[in-house]
Amino acid sequence: MNLILLGPPGAGKGTQAQRLEEKHNLKQLSTGDMLRAAVASGSELGSQVKGIIDRGELVPDDIIVEMIAERIQRPDCAGGFILDGFPRTVPQAEALDEMLAQNDLKLDCVIELKVDDGALVARVSGRFTCAACGAGYHDTNKPTKRAGVCDSCGGKEFIRRDDDNAETVAARLEAYHRQTAPLLPYYDGRGTLSSVDGMGGIEQVAAEIDAVLNKCKTGG
Ligand code: AP5
Repeated sequence: MNLILLGPPGAGKGTQAQRLEEKHNLKQLSTGDMLRAAVASGSELGSQVKGIIDRGELVPDDIIVEMIAERIQRPDCAGGFILDGFPRTVPQAEALDEMLAQNDLKLDCVIELKVDDGALVARVSGRFTCAACGAGYHDTNKPTKRAGVCDSCGGKEFIRRDDDNAETVAARLEAYHRQTAPLLPYYDGRGTLSSVDGMGGIEQVAAEIDAVLNKCKTGG
């Protein structure tokens, strides 16, 4: 099964993708994580995109499309994948349609996580991830079980993202509404879009997503 998680910054795409990866044995493909890895590695791509990410703007479509086109062909995607943060513009969605057709793959489901803008800043500003394994947490909504120790790998170092500040989050939200929200009618028109109320707790949202996936599997 191949699916897209769509939603504004802080909607819970990464949180739910990590859970789906474990539960349904699908590969999470986060363009944000790939770009941050490029920045951390000091590569040419990293230095090209760092300023763009820090300003909360979108990285040019051709860079992102090339990254994903290569990634979905790797063997770890053969059992299905979750696109987290891609596509983000209509040209990216069109390029995805093409690359799926070229690889004889299909998109089973697009899930929109609907969250009010007001709740997003609080989610993003409380977020931190394990430096060793990337598991995601939140100061109040999803703390580690033991203070300062990652539940998944026992790591003791955590990272907060440079773009999780109020000014950049406002720019990211603006980019979402202007450039990414047009994907909702794009996928609705193709009959693949399902919307989930992302305002509930993490487990509640997870249960709603599972219900949508069951419907997708049975073709309902
Ligand atoms: P990216 O990394 O994709 O960031 P984003 O879309 O802004 O999404 P986030 O990672 O901020 O949020 P999320 O929805 O994953 O929320 P999370 O699960 O962490 O992109 C970063 C940048 O890279 C972009 O600005 C752009 O520059 C560039 N980029 C990336 N992809 C691109 C593309 N395709 N094209 C062009 N540029 C691209 O949850 C947030 C917090 O809330 C967590 O702490 C979590 O624990 C908590 N939480 C989650 N769910 C709930 C819940 N239900 N209730 C309470 N708390 C919750």
